[in-house]
Amino acid sequence: MEKNFKRTTVTAALPYANGPVHIGHLAGVYVPADIYVRYLRLKGKDVLFIGGSDEHGVPVTIRARKEGITVQQVVDRYHYLIKDSFEKFGISFDIYSRTTSDVHHKLASDFFKKLYDEDKFIKQTTEQFYDEETKEFLTDRNIRGECPRCHAADAYGDQCEKCGATLSPEELINPYNAVNGNPLVKKETSHWYLPLDQHQEWLEKWILEDHKEWRPNVYGQCKSWLDGGLKPRAVTRDLDWGIPVPVEGAEGKVLYVWFDAPIGYISNTKELCDAKPELGSWETWWKDPETRLVHFIGKDNIVFHCIVFPAMLKAHGDYILPDNVPSNEFLNLENDKISTSRNWAVWLNEYLVDMPERQDELRYVLTASAPETKDNNFMWKDYQDRVNNELVAIYGNFVNRALQLTQKYYDGVVPACGELTDYDKETLAEFADVKTKVESLLENFKFRDAQKEAMNLARIGNKYIADMEPWKVIKTDPERVKTIIYISLQLTANLAIAFEPFLPFSSARLREMICMDGVNWESLGSTELLPAGKQLGKPSLLYTKIEDEVIQAQLDKLEATKKANEAANYKANPIKETISFDDFQKLDIRVGTVLECERVPKMKKLLKFRIDDGLEQRTIVSGISAFYEPEQLVGKQVLFIANLAPRQFKNGLVSEGMILSAENYDGTLAVTTVEHEVKPGSQVL
Ligand code: 2FM
Ligand code: ZN
Repeated sequence: MEKNFKRTTVTAALPYANGPVHIGHLAGVYVPADIYVRYLRLKGKDVLFIGGSDEHGVPVTIRARKEGITVQQVVDRYHYLIKDSFEKFGISFDIYSRTTSDVHHKLASDFFKKLYDEDKFIKQTTEQFYDEETKEFLTDRNIRGECPRCHAADAYGDQCEKCGATLSPEELINPYNAVNGNPLVKKETSHWYLPLDQHQEWLEKWILEDHKEWRPNVYGQCKSWLDGGLKPRAVTRDLDWGIPVPVEGAEGKVLYVWFDAPIGYISNTKELCDAKPELGSWETWWKDPETRLVHFIGKDNIVFHCIVFPAMLKAHGDYILPDNVPSNEFLNLENDKISTSRNWAVWLNEYLVDMPERQDELRYVLTASAPETKDNNFMWKDYQDRVNNELVAIYGNFVNRALQLTQKYYDGVVPACGELTDYDKETLAEFADVKTKVESLLENFKFRDAQKEAMNLARIGNKYIADMEPWKVIKTDPERVKTIIYISLQLTANLAIAFEPFLPFSSARLREMICMDGVNWESLGSTELLPAGKQLGKPSLLYTKIEDEVIQAQLDKLEATKKANEAANYKANPIKETISFDDFQKLDIRVGTVLECERVPKMKKLLKFRIDDGLEQRTIVSGISAFYEPEQLVGKQVLFIANLAPRQFKNGLVSEGMILSAENYDGTLAVTTVEHEVKPGSQVL
């Protein structure tokens, strides 16, 4: 921390209370935030760690409809489940509250009202889709209809999952209410907008000039938003779930969930400080320029935390702005995107049942392969390897040897240190700077490398004791063994401190074994943590091996999910009605050779192909960029529909045909090709 702040307010994204939390949440946000906070506390800093559930918005209402229960029941169920999972994983929030709390409703409502009274919003009237029967305006996700691009029957109002096109509800052909199938009409409605365009200038300076130290992924995303020019964003919605807009004539309207959720950080701080006056006023934690504000979030939340929320805070006027917004990329599971709707996840509540008492193991593995700079992958086999080969074989093994030998040779009393050999001195020198290294990495949000440093300490110890072979030396030079064990015990004590922010449960167990009261972070690196003559407690294994069957059971569980998804997919896409041979013959399917393939600027999902169709070259655009690198496809022979009427995209690009791809059960696409090379233009019969 270069600037001298007096205290730190750390927030972790408020998860939607529409389902349990999974390993992606833990790896991306909560474990790094917790490591950071634990570290600050160990450094004796004043810090508050604020969390809570995000209980408004459309996702919770969709879940309620799906499960046939009330929205309140949904948020109650998942709020407590999520809270419990976090507690059990040692995520040490000072408060974990919820956005349905009274404190939050009042604070968010007042926040809006102040901006409203001070004319910080603009009001705009637009036409939105409306269901005349249920008398409700529909949000993009609740509108479905025919995709204007690929003509899939059930594209969403914001996206077609078939061809990947980003859509707006207006573009859908025959839009209908996704919940009841009712047709929709257009109706005028007014909303309040935060004029982000008016904030462009200071945001540019504040982020692009003053916060160059933000992680490249965060900085880059902000830059691209700013470069594109900010536009006003609606902060209210027509919805019956949420915080009512506190303005006359705004009946039936609520604050947009992304307006109220970040204010939840503030409300939860208030709730905490009101209950614990010793923490001081909540306002100190949010308004004093000597407070440092840090938001831990996932990458899909960057724009809200770096642009929208700061603009809200600035418009309000009294608040500090975030000093850093460490955001991670995504974690995949077994090479596949984590997905709540496809149940492709390791749910924390299930992990706690399947892998009892192994929270630190998961914390360790998730930090070791944290998606800090790029998307990463969680594989159960890697999990097993890391636990067995690192936690058990290195850290656990070393500590166990040191403690068991102390027990065996000295009845558990720390022996006196004799004269040091050169090798002893080298070993001690090696861990002398671990504190500086870990601190500097943690202060720069490099949790993966910081944990590696702690593990390195265990490696040093493990090597030392293996090289020294005290169990052999005891027969020839028992005096020397005292020194070896003394040094090993000092290393053990250092490990209990160094791992404390990362692996709190095993650190506590280890401290109990060595009778260490509390953790004195500042003593990390010391060679006199356990004085000669100190009686230690009873040693037990810090970690145990994970057997193949346990991993297999997890893989089987995922396999069963895959099967269930396949079956559901088949059910969702039954064979279409029979067509005549004549109908089939109308389709002219041919083989084309891909000459060029490239991404399309500003249209993320698309790849643009130049195809040799036998007669000439043509351009075909296909929504498969998520599944291929363009260069992978050059030279391939693909099947395409040659007589499809040309279609124009928003940016003017025209596609002359359609490349055929197979959609896998999980929504991934595979381009169809021929079994051996044929002349371009060959017909598919
Ligand atoms: O993406 C999400 O899960 C949101 N519920 C995060 C909200 S973070 C904050 F603004 F509360
Ligand atoms: Zn489509």
